[in-house]
Amino acid sequence: MRRPDAAGMTTPTAHTRTAPARPCTTPRLDALVAEIREAVGRGLPPDLTAYLVGERLAPHLGTADLLTAEQCEGDPDRYRQHLLHAESDGSFSVVGLVWLPGQRTSVHDHVSWCVTGVHEGEEHERRYRLVPAEDGVPAHLVATEDVVNPQGAVCGFAPPGDIHRVWNAGAGRAISLHVYGADIGRLGSSVRRVYDLPADR
Ligand SMILES: [Fe+2]
Repeated sequence: MRRPDAAGMTTPTAHTRTAPARPCTTPRLDALVAEIREAVGRGLPPDLTAYLVGERLAPHLGTADLLTAEQCEGDPDRYRQHLLHAESDGSFSVVGLVWLPGQRTSVHDHVSWCVTGVHEGEEHERRYRLVPAEDGVPAHLVATEDVVNPQGAVCGFAPPGDIHRVWNAGAGRAISLHVYGADIGRLGSSVRRVYDLPADR
């Protein structure tokens, strides 16, 4: 059940919420979490933290021993989120997203800084700018950029200005790792708001 606010945006739906946290299940994922912990622990501003985390994430993408077979499983009904790690002090979380062909997210923004890396396949992304209501013209979205992120690509961003939609346009499975500067295990989702607004495309 989503509850629209006055601006036509909603809080996350139940289907975007992650499953309960599971322990780290591969030595490589443990190593990656330790590297992220060191970078986040420096206490730098969000954009610099995201840059450092992206540097740590990149060498692990595409490696066969990063995720378990279960962590690579999709869901025929919707893209799937596997919570891979939630730091005990709430400072960061690592999520694996699995898209089967044609699956997509809503148009949304995020609760914190975020770093994404494509582990398998490729992801298509459309970024948007929110145009507030003015002079009788209702609030709406304008697409600003279309990006194709191939296997191995790393992106970092921090709110505001982080509205986008992601989908799998390929014929095979796509998997990406997302690191958020928030406790996704507690929040249940990395999505701050879903935008149910008119968009130019
Ligand atoms: Fe996102």
